[in-house]
Amino acid sequence: MAAKPSTYQRLMVHTLTTNFREAVRIETAEMCHPKKGEVCVKNKYVGINASDVNMTKGRYFTSGKPPFGVGFEGVGEVVEVGEDVDNFKIGQSVTYMNSNMNTFAEYVCVPAAEVFPIPESNPGYLTLLVSGLTAGIGLDKAGRIIAGESVLITAAAGGTGHIAVQWAKAAECHVIGTCSTEEKEKVLKDLGCDRVINYKKEDLAEVLAKEYPKGVDVIWETIGGKVFQDCLKNLAIKGRLLVIGGISAYKDEDRAAMEKRDVSDLPEQLLFKSASVIGFLLLHYGECFASYLKYMGESMEAGKIKCVLDNGEKSTGKEFFGMEGIIRGVEHLHSGKSFGKVYARVS
Ligand SMILES: NC(=O)c1ccc[n+]([C@@H]2O[C@H](COP(=O)([O-])OP(=O)(O)OC[C@H]3O[C@@H](n4cnc5c(N)ncnc54)[C@H](OP(=O)(O)O)[C@@H]3O)[C@@H](O)[C@H]2O)c1
Repeated sequence: MAAKPSTYQRLMVHTLTTNFREAVRIETAEMCHPKKGEVCVKNKYVGINASDVNMTKGRYFTSGKPPFGVGFEGVGEVVEVGEDVDNFKIGQSVTYMNSNMNTFAEYVCVPAAEVFPIPESNPGYLTLLVSGLTAGIGLDKAGRIIAGESVLITAAAGGTGHIAVQWAKAAECHVIGTCSTEEKEKVLKDLGCDRVINYKKEDLAEVLAKEYPKGVDVIWETIGGKVFQDCLKNLAIKGRLLVIGGISAYKDEDRAAMEKRDVSDLPEQLLFKSASVIGFLLLHYGECFASYLKYMGESMEAGKIKCVLDNGEKSTGKEFFGMEGIIRGVEHLHSGKSFGKVYARVS
């Protein structure tokens, strides 16, 4: 067993709120050791996700009774192996999504079945976990995208969006992406977007109605509210609107705000277009994780998938580092200024 300190730092949720900084406390805990079937990973990097604030509010995946851990994914090194685990060894670089959802820590014990070996501890792999898997599996299994179809990706320059753009482009679709700044516009063009809509300069509904009069075949909807309404109105015959998220309401403390979408005429809208609205939650597609991660990892290593990473250095002038860095990273993602996959370095 590699030398481990007797204590480690972690973030624990103590107050149920979408204000991440107020929700969590930085704690020093007794060192954890893997149970049967687990490995202990020393985190090098952790990925930040839009739903981290849904976690701290107790909306997702928890009993809602603090204290509990937070964080979906990490990259690091195996430092201890539990009983009955023979496919991992100490020192091995790994990436993982942890069903205990407590990865914002220096060390974490993870079921070995949720851990994937990688050649080196590269933060790029974080892009391929929650974000990349959602993009690839969501567009394939829920969106059923076909070459030649038009695909609209909202928050296209975000962690999930920039992989979705590349996935749809690789499937030979016509890709439309939304974003809020000129810098993001440029990146989206470089990633292959055929039409970039900067919603601060152009009205989404107007552009879609004018330039896509037959509607859009597949819409990747992650914003909610008016954007959902505009997307629904501009869906093509036999179109599929994928409900991936609703970031515009995540910081709202009032849960009812998440249901602001007006769907009173949904049946008619769908019937007269033979269209569908489809929900997608990554957790329900666990059987696809290993094969998609392998394919995406190889594509990233071959330069076929470009991972845009944001560790705070360029955008805020200071790297997101340690437990305080994770807090700053979550705040940055929700500032609307983040670029690609936001992550923090832990060690
Ligand atoms: N269903 C699933 O299983 C699943 C899994 C992963 C992620 N998701 C969803 O996918 C979406 C993206 O998640 P992510 O973690 O990759 O985050 P992200 O896209 O990196 O999130 C940040 C970006 O969202 C955009 N945004 C648009 N409206 C915003 C608003 N009102 N407030 C703040 N930001 C806003 C901003 O870019 P611009 O404004 O420039 O576009 C911002 O840079 C979220 O809705 C998330 O819940 C769902």
